[in-house]
Amino acid sequence: MASRVIVRAPSSTANLGPGFDVFGLAVDAFYDTVTLTKTRDATRIITDDDVPTDPKKNTAGLVVKKMQRKFGIDGGIRVSIRKGVPVGFGMGSSAASAAAAAVAFDRLFELGLDENSLVEFAGAGEEASAGTIHYDNVAASVLGGFVIVRTRPLDVIRIRPPADLRMCIAIPTISVPKKKTEVSRGVIPKKIRFTDSVLNLSNAATMVAGFMRKDSHLIGDAIRDVIVEPARQHMIPGFAKVKQNAIKAGALGVTISGAGPSVIAFSDNTADLKKISLAMSKGFATADTKSQTIICKPSRGAVGRL
Ligand code: HSE
Repeated sequence: MASRVIVRAPSSTANLGPGFDVFGLAVDAFYDTVTLTKTRDATRIITDDDVPTDPKKNTAGLVVKKMQRKFGIDGGIRVSIRKGVPVGFGMGSSAASAAAAAVAFDRLFELGLDENSLVEFAGAGEEASAGTIHYDNVAASVLGGFVIVRTRPLDVIRIRPPADLRMCIAIPTISVPKKKTEVSRGVIPKKIRFTDSVLNLSNAATMVAGFMRKDSHLIGDAIRDVIVEPARQHMIPGFAKVKQNAIKAGALGVTISGAGPSVIAFSDNTADLKKISLAMSKGFATADTKSQTIICKPSRGAVGRL
């Protein structure tokens, strides 16, 4: 049995418009790396990045603690975290560390857990940042590709994305609250109109068809969310303009990446992706906001499959 395991897990975008808490897509924009080492000391977090070092407040730490309890592992574990995913921008940062930790723990102790169990353990880490457990980002980060999360019981369905699918992500340079996901979940309406639910459901179903048919245009066209996006967009300066500009520049669909504030445009490899990215930056500039843009593809997951 190895005494040290290193796992790298990708960033992810959750919701993809109408699939709140259900859809996730691993993206090759950024990666977190978690190294787990068996030690004689108590379990502790080692990192140079700006994340909590109390294992009970750190997403990877929570996962490791939970798995130690569950599998009766008494020895200490050193959890070294190298963040690549920007924290708090809707790119699945907490999920990437949690996913890498769950997969690394499984390997370190040769547990042979199945995919749903790995996602379930990784999901425990989300509580540290979102206040509640949601599995969309962790499922994408663990498994890669496009995922559909069913809960009660947890069951993740993974679909390989079309090879020509591309995303332009614009990350605004703004300060975000410490528990941003919890804050942005607080603005979601408690009651919704039945007709809105039908509309979102029809687009969510269309998106799944788009992934099954490997049709990037259908995927982009299905990114229409009349429930969560309208409730959250006020938290993103210039959102309407960013979206409008991206569509004008040739994007197939645009929405908030996860809980924001990053905005993600979907396209295929025939589009002028630099033009779309620039158009998004200009949209943020109309609200006096600088932004970083990144062009990316779907990614493999922490377990190494796409
Ligand atoms: N589905 C979650 C949310 C994703 O939108 O709150 C958070 O990254």
